[in-house]
Amino acid sequence: MGMANKFSIAYGIAGSLKNQGAALIFTAQSERFKEKISDTIAEFSKHDVFVCDVTNEGEIERVFKEINDRVGNIDFLVHSIAFSDKNELRGQYSQTTRENFLNTLNISCYSLTEICRFLPIIMKDGGSVLTLTYYGSEKVVPNYNVMAVAKSALETSVKYLANDLGEYGIRVNAISAGPIKTLAASGIHEFSKILELERDRAPLKRNVTQKDIGDACSFLISDMASGITGQILHVDCGSSIVGMTI
Ligand SMILES: NC(=O)c1ccc[n+]([C@@H]2O[C@H](COP(=O)([O-])OP(=O)(O)OC[C@H]3O[C@@H](n4cnc5c(N)ncnc54)[C@H](O)[C@@H]3O)[C@@H](O)[C@H]2O)c1
Repeated sequence: MGMANKFSIAYGIAGSLKNQGAALIFTAQSERFKEKISDTIAEFSKHDVFVCDVTNEGEIERVFKEINDRVGNIDFLVHSIAFSDKNELRGQYSQTTRENFLNTLNISCYSLTEICRFLPIIMKDGGSVLTLTYYGSEKVVPNYNVMAVAKSALETSVKYLANDLGEYGIRVNAISAGPIKTLAASGIHEFSKILELERDRAPLKRNVTQKDIGDACSFLISDMASGITGQILHVDCGSSIVGMTI
């Protein structure tokens, strides 16, 4: 869930999963997104793209039932969805409006909670869920603002959801990805500076790639990570371990 174009983190994840031999099904936010992404998705999947706007009441349950009827059981789910008004991904966090606060948390955090509620109907043999977060949830990153608060809530949700779904044999984890220039990221004011600062601070002295994140995702989703749940794995070239550089 959440491939908008070839720059999306979900595109890198899909590429890695395909290399591992996974059969994939995709959802898109709207008919318009579906139309734009269909050719790209055809590289990965023979199935139709299912439309799912996570803000529409009942849509997640409806889509999962449709997938269950048309395709059957699934083994994993990648939640690569976030949104906030770009006018509030700049300046002071205290200026966040109630409307954008609720919308950001709804799309970027609550959606995972609702998805997990309906997973047992479509992941009957157990499985694995993965979502994407960012370091701005842990330390202040300029302009990340309300999205940072959403990511904090998302990370805590991962732990509670992992606890809830453990009894169904479903694992829930997150990757805290280093910055990558994508459609969503371009809404963050001065994002190119964040990219530069993270690259300079990182022990590996580079930014992460879609492949770095995709391959870590394949690991966490696969049975190689069968004992790992409720965890946040940093895939950021080590940037988050550095407190200060001189
Ligand atoms: N790009 C980065 O630097 C970075 C770093 C860490 C984490 N992340 C996270 O990775 C995830 C994927 O983002 P991305 O950077 O690949 O950007 P992206 O713009 O390619 O993907 C965001 C996706 O969210 C979807 N979306 C937004 N509102 C939706 C709705 N109402 N219903 C359904 N889908 C909706 C969009 O259609 C899009 O496909 C996000 O959770 C983002 O916060 C990104």
